[in-house]
Amino acid sequence: MTTRSSASLLLLPPLLLLYASAVSIVPAFVAAQAGDEAALLAFKAAASGAGHDDSLLPSWNSSGAGGDLCTWEGVRCGARHRRVVALSLPSRGLTGTLSPAIGNLTFLRELNLTSNWLHGDIPATIGRLVRLQMLDLSYNTFGGVLPANLSFCVSMLFLRLSSNRLHGRIPVELGNRLTNLQRLSLAKNNLTGDIPASLANMSSLYYLGLGANQFEGPIPPELGSIGGLRLLSLDANNLSGTIQVGNSLSGTIPSDIGERLPNIEILHYSNNQFSGAIPDSLSNLSSLRNLEIAWNSFSGHIPPTLGRVKNLIKLNILRNRIEADDRVGWEFITALANCTQLQYLVIDSNLFSGKLPGSVANLSTTLRYLGLGENRISGFIPSNIGNLVGLEKLGMVNTSISGVIPESIGQLENMVQLGLYNTRLSGLIPPTLGNLTQLYELDLHNDYLEGPIPASLGNLKNMFALDLSWNRLNGSIPIDVLKLPASGYLDLSHNLLSGPLPTEVDSLANINELFLSGNQLSGNIPDRRIPQTLGNIKGLAILNLTMNKISGSIPDALCSIGGLQELYVAYNNLSGLIPTCLQNLTSLLKLDLSFNDLQGAVPKKGVFGNETNLSIDGNDGLCGGTPLLHLAACPMFAAERKKRHLSASLKITLISISSLVILVLVVSLVWLTHKKLRKRNELVPPAAEQYERVSYHALLNGTNGFSEANLLGQGSYGAVYKCTLHYQGTTVAVKVFNTQQSRTTRSFVAECETLRRVRHRCLIKIITCCSSINHQGQEFKALVFEFMPKGNLNNWLHPESDTLSQTNTLSLEQRLHIAVDIMDALDYLHNLCQPAIIHCDLKPSNILLTEDMSARVGDFGISKILLESASDILQYPNSTTGIRGTIGYVAPEYGEGSSVSTQGDVYSLGIMLLEMFTGRSPTDEMFSGSLDLHKFSENALPDRIWEIVDPTIWMHTDGYNSKKWNSKLLGFGCCSWNILLQETT
Ligand SMILES: *[C@@H]1O[C@H](CO)[C@@H](O)[C@H](O)[C@H]1NC(C)=O
Ligand SMILES: *[C@@H]1O[C@H](CO)[C@@H](O)[C@H](O)[C@H]1NC(C)=O
Repeated sequence: MTTRSSASLLLLPPLLLLYASAVSIVPAFVAAQAGDEAALLAFKAAASGAGHDDSLLPSWNSSGAGGDLCTWEGVRCGARHRRVVALSLPSRGLTGTLSPAIGNLTFLRELNLTSNWLHGDIPATIGRLVRLQMLDLSYNTFGGVLPANLSFCVSMLFLRLSSNRLHGRIPVELGNRLTNLQRLSLAKNNLTGDIPASLANMSSLYYLGLGANQFEGPIPPELGSIGGLRLLSLDANNLSGTIQVGNSLSGTIPSDIGERLPNIEILHYSNNQFSGAIPDSLSNLSSLRNLEIAWNSFSGHIPPTLGRVKNLIKLNILRNRIEADDRVGWEFITALANCTQLQYLVIDSNLFSGKLPGSVANLSTTLRYLGLGENRISGFIPSNIGNLVGLEKLGMVNTSISGVIPESIGQLENMVQLGLYNTRLSGLIPPTLGNLTQLYELDLHNDYLEGPIPASLGNLKNMFALDLSWNRLNGSIPIDVLKLPASGYLDLSHNLLSGPLPTEVDSLANINELFLSGNQLSGNIPDRRIPQTLGNIKGLAILNLTMNKISGSIPDALCSIGGLQELYVAYNNLSGLIPTCLQNLTSLLKLDLSFNDLQGAVPKKGVFGNETNLSIDGNDGLCGGTPLLHLAACPMFAAERKKRHLSASLKITLISISSLVILVLVVSLVWLTHKKLRKRNELVPPAAEQYERVSYHALLNGTNGFSEANLLGQGSYGAVYKCTLHYQGTTVAVKVFNTQQSRTTRSFVAECETLRRVRHRCLIKIITCCSSINHQGQEFKALVFEFMPKGNLNNWLHPESDTLSQTNTLSLEQRLHIAVDIMDALDYLHNLCQPAIIHCDLKPSNILLTEDMSARVGDFGISKILLESASDILQYPNSTTGIRGTIGYVAPEYGEGSSVSTQGDVYSLGIMLLEMFTGRSPTDEMFSGSLDLHKFSENALPDRIWEIVDPTIWMHTDGYNSKKWNSKLLGFGCCSWNILLQETT
């Protein structure tokens, strides 16, 4: 007992000491924790936004001086000192600001507020958080600048501020002080200025994401010294420079990139302005997995040594100027066969030409995505393409690939998307395509395919969009193809398909948009319902049967398609009455019944009440309808006449109550007028409803108020502007019609109509139409086209600049390519479109040039759609005869009153070709009297061609060697010149 008490006594002093210190320390902790609580409550008040949403963070309640805040949602405290060490509230719907009180949580090591709606500045008080290791404010809407105070958070390892609206520059201090940082992501903000070289001091950095900002200038060479960097993402900036072959990255990043960044796994350079060649030295980056340099101006060849990068998974060079031809440049395909993990190879939209090497089929079976489109690639699809069993997406669109689609394609059972449109592929569609049961989209439009549509395509249970239009397919449509369960879009238009449609309307019900126009389908429109299905058929929204040989009457059964929005049955042999139930089909917005044999009364309600969305022309037997249609009144039927007679005889008996009748009449007249007026007010401007997908304001903003600076060209129709659609960040060309002219509306309609119908590599692509009211309350009509960066051919043939050089003139080769493109387009318009389309205004200023100097025929403002059957012109309402086209290019017979014809276009083409090679405009001053461009050229044949050739072509020849050049021209020029002259005669 004694010993025990003595022992206790012995222990007493230290215990006392401990107690004493606890007494003094505990209040300090409690006070500090109360500070944390105040800071957290201030955080909550600011973060919950203007609404002070009480439902937010319900567990966060003031608890006096208790210790409960450590149990609050998202809060973590230190085990010993009970201070807040982590605050993690991702995706909690926080809508307010970040309170500066956050800087009072001085023990904070982790702050994660990603994916909320926080806005305002990032408070500079964050700089007080010297223990902070991880800060994630990504995916919010923080604005303001990057606070330089962040550089005081010297413990920081992980800093992620991507996807906000931060602007200004990267503070230089950041790199100097945050030397422990391992991961820095500032991507997707509006940061500007150059990338500070100080970032190279972050020697532990393995991830540097700066993409999608507006940084400028060269990449600091010092970055090359961050040896551990595994991802460098600089895409979507305005960075420039070159990656010089065997020398340095961006001209300033060291050439020994292979040794200095040995661990780099991911290089993103996309969306910048890099040029020059892809350096061979990249092949030394043995850890490289992703190389993405899309949307730059890299040129030269893909180094075949890339085949040494064994780990390569992704190679994306989309939209550059990389080239290859039959001699050189394709070796990389063979070499990449060594990259056994390759999944993604995209070389679309470059300058590849020549034959596609067969070794493409030897690439790794891991390959999932192969994109070769928008190149001048010719040759065949290798017959063993089926080796690439991993392929999910294959695109060879807009190429000159020819031959047949190999049967082995049926082995690519993982294929989801197959695009082989706008090529020269011919022959049969292989039935093996029916094995690709994962296929979601199959687009083979505008090829030269023939034969039947394989019934096996009906097996494609996942097919959503099937486009086989503009081929030469014949035979009947397999019923199973019409019944594809997942069909959103089925386009079989403009082929030679024949035979009847199925008899049940229900068979069409799976498809959302069905286009069968321009075929030779016969029989009746489906008119039966499958007995067991009741109620409305849903699904089918657009049915286009225009230009077939369909006969019989329009069945009432169509009215059972509850969601039908657009029905086109023009140019068939339909007869009988228009079903009156169509006026009750409230979903129906557009109806085209023109050029059939329909008879009887036109209903007045529903779609029939709005003449702009209704077409009934060319049906001689129709009568009645709304007065807007200007049809003859329908003849009275016998029964009706009898009734009238009766009522006449009753008149006398009724005279006593005539006052009452008059009253009723007056009342109903007032009511009717009122209703009519209301209806007129409801009429939407026609085109607005059809096309308005881009607003007047978007165009106004995008062109800086249609400013002079954005003006690209002007004509009688109006003007063309360059426009940046801010919400998409894309540049487009906007053709604004001068609506003060009566011709303009016609021109707008003609151009819309034509462009809607055509799709070809060498025709300008329309993006959308805008018909609206401008800020002065006037009618505003515009067409939105893809932007053609190289302007029009006229400016290249007749440059305004006084100094002519290789950069503002065209080489012979370029001229030939352009000529071929124009002829391709014309061949398509005249011979492949059904009915044919006549351009009517071919001239160099209507030929637009893409980045790679291929040609697009544009300006369809006065084009004509030629009816094959009647060899007649489809006249637009109010069309007047008069000379169509431009003096100098218009065929002489037009002046004599001949109707427009394909020959007229060929004349204009001939004149234009002569202009392209002589450099002389047909309206040049030198041509007067009997001497015209044609005669002038003819006189020079055959011995003096070189005298009349556009002298600027010489600038592009080696050392201006006229002798060599002369023979070259004679070699492949002479016969074509003869043909030219014949064409224009
Ligand atoms: C944060 O700390 C400062 C200075 O210590 C103090 O003045 C302020 O009241 C604190 N804010 C909150 C919300 O606790
Ligand atoms: C591909 O690998 C083979 C065998 O290892 C080798 O002989 C060939 O040189 C390699 N090709 C390239 C381009 O690396």
